[in-house]
Amino acid sequence: MIKANGLVSITDCDKDDILRILDLAEQFEKHPNPHLLDGKLVATLFFEPSTRTRLSFETAVQRLGGRVIGFSDAATSSSSKGETLHDTIKMVSNYVDLIVMRHPVEGAARYASEVAGVPVINAGDGANQHPTQTMLDLYSIKKTQGRLDNLTISMVGDLKYGRTVHSLLQAMQYFNPTYNFVAPPELRMPEQYRLFCEEKGLKYKEETDLNAVLKTSDILYMTRVQQERFTDPVEYEKVRNTYTLRNSMLEDTKDNLRILHPLPRITEIAADVDANPKAYYFEQARNGVFARQAVICSILGLV
Ligand code: CP
Repeated sequence: MIKANGLVSITDCDKDDILRILDLAEQFEKHPNPHLLDGKLVATLFFEPSTRTRLSFETAVQRLGGRVIGFSDAATSSSSKGETLHDTIKMVSNYVDLIVMRHPVEGAARYASEVAGVPVINAGDGANQHPTQTMLDLYSIKKTQGRLDNLTISMVGDLKYGRTVHSLLQAMQYFNPTYNFVAPPELRMPEQYRLFCEEKGLKYKEETDLNAVLKTSDILYMTRVQQERFTDPVEYEKVRNTYTLRNSMLEDTKDNLRILHPLPRITEIAADVDANPKAYYFEQARNGVFARQAVICSILGLV
């Protein structure tokens, strides 16, 4: 369950936790509560770049009456002078009620939650987890489909390094999904997640051709090839433009199909898709404010 020491992995949440966060997000969307976080201070510590996650967390806090401190570039913090993550987290724990952290190292959020004196929310740790993105993804799926159960979800692109698909795959275990994993061989869904599906009895197919899954999908979850995770630029060049979804490809798709993307997009969704009513990625990002309000208030015991 979501604990008083924060949210590090989506696997910390059971089905009831997830449904409760989605209900709370709906409440925050319908009834903004401008004083719930009065007197609370939240730190956003971003050791990796971000637009949506940091700004939606900060929007979530400030719209509820709380205040934010932090950094968006580790180069401006004393970690650039060699201060350890341990000491940074210990220090910031002295100042705030809650820490939101993004870090390039897998497991950094777990470590931070173990040394912090306040709850820690993982805003992305390397290729591992992005649990609050998953909450907003689930909220977006529920809003657009009217349900979470029995959906065909096609995950497309960088399934190796994409932390958002790893978290989403695990969260959907409670809702009987059928997965299509669409990726070039170099970026296929890692074995640990395929084994997870097998252990949980989740149906999945692997494809390399995006066209093969378009007609049967309820959710098309596009992802960016994560350039920053590649050690060899030549390997990145080989796969960077594998998939581009174009408006013309959506003609025979299901009426209820919605296209999600955690963003930023590079070339994987052409601009001509944006005007299609099936494109939902900008609304999806907006839902991040409500989902993060729900997570923050739940962890702080305010709802
Ligand atoms: N979806 C997401 O994590 O976007 P940012 O990297 O801009 O925060």
